[in-house]
Amino acid sequence: MEPLQYLTGFGNEHATEAISGVLPVGQNTPQQVAFGLYAEQISGTAFTAPRSENRRTWMYRLRPSAGHPPYRKTEARRLRSGPFDEVPPPPNRLRWDPLPLPTDPTTFLEGLFTLGGNGSAAAGDGAAVHLYVANTSMVDTAFFNADGELLIVPQQGALRIVTEMGVLAVPPGHVALIPRGVRMRVELPEGPVRGYICENHGAAFRLPELGPIGSNGLANPRDFRAPVASFEDVDRPTRVVQKFQGHLWETTLDHSPFDVVAWHGSHVPYVYDLARFNTINTVSFDHPDPSIFTVLTSPSETPGTANCDFVIFPPRWMVAEHTFRPPWFHRNVMSEMMGLIHGVYDAKADQFVPGGASLHNCMSAHGPDRKTYEAAVAASLGPKKIDNTLAFMFETRHVIAPTRAALESPTLQSDYDACWGDLRKAQLPPR
Ligand SMILES: [Fe+2]
Repeated sequence: MEPLQYLTGFGNEHATEAISGVLPVGQNTPQQVAFGLYAEQISGTAFTAPRSENRRTWMYRLRPSAGHPPYRKTEARRLRSGPFDEVPPPPNRLRWDPLPLPTDPTTFLEGLFTLGGNGSAAAGDGAAVHLYVANTSMVDTAFFNADGELLIVPQQGALRIVTEMGVLAVPPGHVALIPRGVRMRVELPEGPVRGYICENHGAAFRLPELGPIGSNGLANPRDFRAPVASFEDVDRPTRVVQKFQGHLWETTLDHSPFDVVAWHGSHVPYVYDLARFNTINTVSFDHPDPSIFTVLTSPSETPGTANCDFVIFPPRWMVAEHTFRPPWFHRNVMSEMMGLIHGVYDAKADQFVPGGASLHNCMSAHGPDRKTYEAAVAASLGPKKIDNTLAFMFETRHVIAPTRAALESPTLQSDYDACWGDLRKAQLPPR
């Protein structure tokens, strides 16, 4: 992939122009914009959202987005949306093997497969979890999601994501955050791809508060990179597909919508390298709750109870004394969907493989498998680096209801419960 330039800083008020002198100085909508460009605002929050929440971007483009024919409903393939009521959500622990890569030409948009979700786009609440597999770049096609923002987590293969604001390079180990409504085109410069998506219908993802951690740590704002303005001056038919209220709709423009010559604002896409996450954990005993690994959070109206959190389990040193070091046994009011980008997750010795997924919904009991448990209670507790790992979790306050296709998928493992079925009974002394 070509080297790209970026602007840095999560939530910053960025300004960038592909042709110098285009951005108006001291105002947003002068009577005449340079070169006859059109000024257009995209609002990611209500106009009157508090300043700290407010997200909007001004774009200066060859044509306004308003010039388009009507959208027609189009096929959603394996993409689903809320309300997730196709089947009653089972309370069982569920685990999937990776989706196979496609054999027919399949783009990112065509290769979306919805695993499950909660809430609904209509209510502006909840999140959906999608998987994607693709082997073909999108060509003369743009996609945007009116239903929420997209947090894209590549597992295999790099993505080159062309957006209205510019281009992002997103290899595995990085994540991309595409704001609601922003047009994108996903290209595959290095071959087939597979990954995960959290579609967030709630409040936009932001960095978590740090509390007593202080003013640094976890994901630092400066490591989120936004694209610099770059544009296409292409007069060629371009399909524009949008997800609106759970369905896909499409129209055709006679030009590329990636025609933004300059922009300024805060409603912008980001790429973030998960290797830059400043991982914090115990230096004494017991490991903290996994919320210590939160990269991004979408808060709800209930304090401390996320609509959705994005949490990673990155390489890290384990130094806890007299402590059971793997993730402990757990039942949680929050629902946990996990994926694995590479390596091995430290609670599961077997069968949770990169590209796979597990789902532990509200109050379903989970924790390390027998092999992991027995190794952990017998381990010598010197400092140990967990190196070959990068797992993540989408954790939400509502149950993630699987889709019918997810429950009927041949990738659903039939024997997941067995990993806890042979844990030995504790041995009490004779009474
Ligand atoms: Fe858990």
